[in-house]
Amino acid sequence: MDKFFEIASIAARQAGKIIKDYFHKPKVISYKGRIDLVTNVDKKAEDIIIKIIKKSYPNHNILTEESEHSYNPNQEFCWVIDPLDGTTNYVHKFPFVSVSIALQKNQESILGIVYNPILEEFFYSEIGKGSFRNGNQISVSKTSIISNAFLSTGFPYRINDQKRNNISNFAKIIRRCRGIRRAGSAAIDLCYVATGIFDGFWELELSPWDTAAGILIIKQAGGTITNFDGSKFSIFNKEIIATNGHIHKELLNILNS
Ligand code: IPD
Ligand code: CA
Ligand code: CA
Repeated sequence: MDKFFEIASIAARQAGKIIKDYFHKPKVISYKGRIDLVTNVDKKAEDIIIKIIKKSYPNHNILTEESEHSYNPNQEFCWVIDPLDGTTNYVHKFPFVSVSIALQKNQESILGIVYNPILEEFFYSEIGKGSFRNGNQISVSKTSIISNAFLSTGFPYRINDQKRNNISNFAKIIRRCRGIRRAGSAAIDLCYVATGIFDGFWELELSPWDTAAGILIIKQAGGTITNFDGSKFSIFNKEIIATNGHIHKELLNILNS
């Protein structure tokens, strides 16, 4: 097994164990915004991931949700981590939660792991090797028209303050497709496109740690990811469309209509 993958897997599984152990227990909850929650478990999971990665790769950069780390622009490797994606779900014991860990080399994801320890789904991909769920190779769906598409999206926490809050997009697309889910973990949404459950996903205002692992998992499963104007997506962009490729243009057209 590749060393990067081995270390990332150990980190994801250990963080996942913490998340699972606390799932039914009381948590310490703080507010980062009106509805933007963080728990003591987000922080515990992050600490263990960083500890494991730093032990093997002390000089690599780290970009993570709950803590700041010094950034060396000359370092080609950066670990991009969401220790708990789906914190609102977690607080309410809705089992769509994940650990998302990506390794980027020169700003491109070369490894991605998204692990849901509650449903025991371990998604991963290494560049050039395809994408997998619990050891089985996965690929995107074949749905070719939006009227048959099962889609997923999300809404920003600052939904009342932001003009681009996705409500009008949702209203347009729900009239055209088979159904839309708001499952509450962008990292899992992306993996569910990769595995053909969702035919497509779009969202605004995500952060790099929400998408860095999932985008590689989709790409290596045959999917397409762009910004809303069809240009190449970067994890620092604020809009993402990720689909099976076949419905991409139609979804872009509706979003831009
Ligand atoms: C959130 C989830 C959610 C998305 C939010 C994210 P968090 O991440 O991915 O699905 O709609 O925009 O911030 O806060 O649970 O790590
Ligand atoms: Ca997140
Ligand atoms: Ca998070």
